[in-house]
Amino acid sequence: MVVPAGRLPARVRIHEVGARDGLQNERATVPTAVKAEFVRRLAGAGLTTIEATSFVHPKWVPQLADAEELFPLVSGLPVELPVLVPNERGLERAMALGARRVAVFASATESFARANLNRTVDEALAMFEPVVERAKAGGVHVRGYLSMCFGDPWEGAVPVGQVVRVCRALLGMGCDELSIGDTIGVATPGHVLALLAALGEQGVPAGVLGVHFHDTYGQALANTLAALQYGVTTVDASAGGLGGCPFAKSATGNLATEDLVWMLHGLGIETGADLGRLVATSVWMAGRLGRPSPSRTVHALSHEEFRGREGREARKEQ
Ligand code: HMG
Ligand code: MG
Repeated sequence: MVVPAGRLPARVRIHEVGARDGLQNERATVPTAVKAEFVRRLAGAGLTTIEATSFVHPKWVPQLADAEELFPLVSGLPVELPVLVPNERGLERAMALGARRVAVFASATESFARANLNRTVDEALAMFEPVVERAKAGGVHVRGYLSMCFGDPWEGAVPVGQVVRVCRALLGMGCDELSIGDTIGVATPGHVLALLAALGEQGVPAGVLGVHFHDTYGQALANTLAALQYGVTTVDASAGGLGGCPFAKSATGNLATEDLVWMLHGLGIETGADLGRLVATSVWMAGRLGRPSPSRTVHALSHEEFRGREGREARKEQ
């Protein structure tokens, strides 16, 4: 049933991160052909921005060491396929394969910058500067991720000023959009609104922001709703709720795309996504990974006793 609520956007762009944020954290290495099929199915389910992989050091993230093999298998799909690049080496690898969208990934805290990038926050920003410059010169769209915007497993609560400083630096070097990450999933809606308002006051408008919530404490949807009320229209999510971060052990799965779509469609907000096909994709992927999806919506719609239209469509696809 669709029941709109006030002060919400008519349409939301979902930035799907399952194939990257999700699979980077899997214990088992997923075969390249399965990853490619995952991306194809996500595109078939109507998602238009699907983060495909990362061109990082293969020793740091062995699960995505097949980026060179995977990207050409999916690059012909009629969707945007952003990839993560930490440095110029990563950008060169991505651009050699024709990537049109890349993402650098900064940290609001020193501890995570060290754990994730082997750099201080400022050294990491210095590493990104030529990446952004070269990408922009080549007409490549650049997203700037910012991790640990709310809490950090080593440092605790993260002061808003630290987040604002790094966001401004990323925009200043030319990033087209930013993604505000709650890497360990500790944010609550008031905190989200306070951070977004502080960013707005410092010249970082909602229009350039996406939100990236992990669901550790079950707050990801509430936080998303708060961000939508503030004016954000880009939301990161991971099919089936796959995810985590190998460099922050307390990070659990991302907001599940299906949970997000259930809420957005219930509010009458357009996404272009086909929920039945998404559920079918996550059930299929769960079979490849050997464990059920943590998404409540995937569970509800794929449950054998479920007799609704979405459930029937989901089962048909399996
Ligand atoms: P480093 O060890 O300091 O690297 O790692 P370096 O610059 O000293 O180079 C060492 C060697 O690595 C050199 O080779 C380089 O060529 C090679 P050698 O000369 O010794 O033979 N190298 C590379 N090889 C392939 N591709 C590259 C590359 N770069 C260097 N791109 C580095 C620094 C940044 C490379 C490393 O720390 C790294 O790869 N980190 C990636 C970490 C990562 O992917 N984390 C997960 C993504 S972030 C995330 O999940 C959070 C997010 O979801 C948002 C949220 O939830 O908050 C985005
Ligand atoms: Mg993440």
